[in-house]
Amino acid sequence: MAGEMSILGSAILALFLAGYLGQQYLPPPKPRVIGLDLGTTFCSVGVFHPGVGDVEVIGDEEGRKSIPSVVSFTPTQVLAGNEAQELADSSPQNTIYDAKRFIGKVFEPEDLEQESARYPFKVVYNNGSAEFLVSTNHTFTVSPEFIGSRLLLKMKKMAESHLGVPVQKAVISVPAEFDERQRNYTIRAANLVGLDILRVINEPTAAAMAYGLHKADVSNVLVVDLGGGTLDVSLLNKQGGMFLTRAMAGNNKLGGQDFSQRLLQHALERVRQQFGVLPIQKEDIHSLRQAVEAAKLNLTLQSSVLLQVPLHLEVGGLGDPPKPVLFQETITREMFEELNADLFQKILAPVRTVLEEGQLEKSEVDEVVLVGGSTRIPRIRQIIASFFGKDPNTSVDPDLAVVTGVAIQAGIMGGAWPLQVSALEIPNRHLRKTNFN
Ligand SMILES: *[C@@H]1O[C@H](CO)[C@@H](O)[C@H](O)[C@H]1NC(C)=O
Ligand SMILES: *[C@@H]1O[C@H](CO)[C@@H](O)[C@H](O)[C@H]1NC(C)=O
Ligand SMILES: *[C@@H]1O[C@H](CO)[C@@H](O)[C@H](O)[C@H]1NC(C)=O
Ligand SMILES: *[C@@H]1O[C@H](CO)[C@@H](O)[C@H](O)[C@H]1NC(C)=O
Ligand SMILES: *[C@@H]1O[C@H](CO)[C@@H](O)[C@H](O)[C@H]1NC(C)=O
Repeated sequence: MAGEMSILGSAILALFLAGYLGQQYLPPPKPRVIGLDLGTTFCSVGVFHPGVGDVEVIGDEEGRKSIPSVVSFTPTQVLAGNEAQELADSSPQNTIYDAKRFIGKVFEPEDLEQESARYPFKVVYNNGSAEFLVSTNHTFTVSPEFIGSRLLLKMKKMAESHLGVPVQKAVISVPAEFDERQRNYTIRAANLVGLDILRVINEPTAAAMAYGLHKADVSNVLVVDLGGGTLDVSLLNKQGGMFLTRAMAGNNKLGGQDFSQRLLQHALERVRQQFGVLPIQKEDIHSLRQAVEAAKLNLTLQSSVLLQVPLHLEVGGLGDPPKPVLFQETITREMFEELNADLFQKILAPVRTVLEEGQLEKSEVDEVVLVGGSTRIPRIRQIIASFFGKDPNTSVDPDLAVVTGVAIQAGIMGGAWPLQVSALEIPNRHLRKTNFN
């Protein structure tokens, strides 16, 4: 009897061993579920490789790991991503961006008139929803979820060409503040291009997962997401492996664009001081805008940069033919920080609010996670670190933290060994976001 048991035992052991060796020596299975970050300004797609246990963010034809969330219409084509972005200057009225701000939202006609004034394309009202008016060879309207679907299709194709297999299943992230209707319309966008959404997760939860916090011994995680135009702060509480969003606050009008704008104002003032006139040509303003944007990015790593921008100025007096001049100006990191000091301080207001609403002392926050390109700015990291008295988690690229977390969730949904810990989210339907504008 004992012998039979041990034979059976050995057989089971052998089976396990075969399975284990199989894991080791067979080519690892292809990921079957992709993770999608459909962002307001950029989108990314990632997968979890079960064999190595790594997340891979998939690049486009040129290896870029995020594509602009832009869709452009021509008489013959619908373009998405970089190709669409390239048409933004020549065909602004048919190049749609920011569609995520409209998806699944209920509007009054007056709201949309205001919104439409902010964009080079037309936003129109249709029975409570927003639509975009496109005029190529004929005039038609498209829905925000259609725009979303074209971006999702682009990412689906990027994943398929990289993995060499068709992809039908995905996990997608949405802002924590999205209500059920916005979530449904996001799912509908994916369904339009044949993607079955296995789970929708909140962006801050995804960012926390990118740092492995779903497996770590933490209870309170604060996520600061500072992008091009918006700030979102979320307080997450982990209860038995599940994340609950306890409080949200933010500022819809604070982000990288504002910091660049301050730098542009400064550059314009310096042009006026050096040459006595301001640039008036559209191309000159455009070149200056691009130069300060590049300078802002460089100042993250360097302590000073030299702006050099060829301009065309009416230096001989108003009405004189414009003469080419070279504008040169050194910008130090310190100057950049001074120009934006008041804006940087505004970041702390929603941080304080979520702590109050979550009834938590700042010392009770176990980890602080930074998301969004603007959190690379050294001064912003400093302000957050000194507020909490500890360093934030920054080892994951802040532009890819969300897609990294979504890809991990996609790996879990795809049954990828050896990940067993699933990060469920407890829905919090009564939560409202506090906005500082
Ligand atoms: C308008 O919206 C309502 C509610 O969402 C819906 O019941 C109705 O069918 C819609 N009407 C049209 C013409 O689409
Ligand atoms: C669109 O219009 C242009 C010129 O008006 C014409 O050359 C082109 O064939 C048209 N394209 C389609 C798809 O109808
Ligand atoms: C969202 O979709 C679910 C499932 O299809 C449905 O039961 C629910 O009523 C929808 N909610 C809203 C607000 O559209
Ligand atoms: C920023 O850095 C890049 C590469 O490090 C360099 O090519 C570029 O000229 C710099 N731009 C400015 C404005 O300093
Ligand atoms: C970041 O997160 C990890 C958990 O994965 C933690 O061990 C680490 O101490 C955190 N903090 C910093 C500053 O990196």
